Amino acid sequence: MSRRPIIGVFDSGFGGLTVLRELVALIPDADYFYFGDTVRLPYGSKSADTVARYAVGATNYLESHGAEMLVVACNTATALALPQICASAHVPVIGVVEPGAESAASTTMSRKVSVIATDATVSSHAYFRALQARGIEAREKACPLLVPLVEEGWIDHPVTEQVARIYLQEAFIDGFEAADVLLLGCTHYPLLKPLLRRVAPAHVAIVDSAESTARVVADRLKTYPFPAPSAKERRTAPSLRFFATDSVEKFRRLGAMFLGHAVEEVQHVDLKE
Ligand code: DGL
Repeated sequence: MSRRPIIGVFDSGFGGLTVLRELVALIPDADYFYFGDTVRLPYGSKSADTVARYAVGATNYLESHGAEMLVVACNTATALALPQICASAHVPVIGVVEPGAESAASTTMSRKVSVIATDATVSSHAYFRALQARGIEAREKACPLLVPLVEEGWIDHPVTEQVARIYLQEAFIDGFEAADVLLLGCTHYPLLKPLLRRVAPAHVAIVDSAESTARVVADRLKTYPFPAPSAKERRTAPSLRFFATDSVEKFRRLGAMFLGHAVEEVQHVDLKE
């Protein structure tokens, strides 16, 4: 019997919906479970041990509810906890750092990339290592104010523009004036693409790890023996189920901004530690 694969997408909160949006656009022949750990958001200011504990609990939940592949949409969770998540999972796991680094490496001509991300992601140097392994020099710049500004809905606001300008000035100095790629290493930043395009140096290409991750997931699906969807299933839009650890109402409201359309079917989850 043919059946669509269920892809579990995990994030600290709402931001991973930017990854889900890319996945649904590229892989409509799948169904999706999305887990947003909104009660423990943000991960970007927490320690590696804490993030690993939270992330393993959430990804176990997705797997135990039927996810057949896990996408760790959260850059911070990928950077700090991917090995622990992989060790506790029994299904394929894909994080966002390697796809983002690969895409940046294939885009840069100057072999210098500036990465912007949360404090925790930058401190882990996960992107630095992933780029270095590809022979690319990286400068990492933490931009902690951008997550709350995006969640406030200030995606095209003069205050956000001013903050981004200050951060990007620091991202393109100290020998990185010639960097020709800005790698968005946080789930929230794709919403700021038009603003960042205005603020970043004109010669810089913006690479979004959400898009590159969706491409990697699509490729990986081809290598797993999921049964091919029937013609009827192909005509059906993917079903999306959401799990949130904090208010369902807030998830619906903020989630719509990240996903680009209404968020339905949200279930509250209490992950007892
Ligand atoms: N999802 C996080 C990331 O991509 C940003 C929000 C947070 O700090 O939890 O790094």
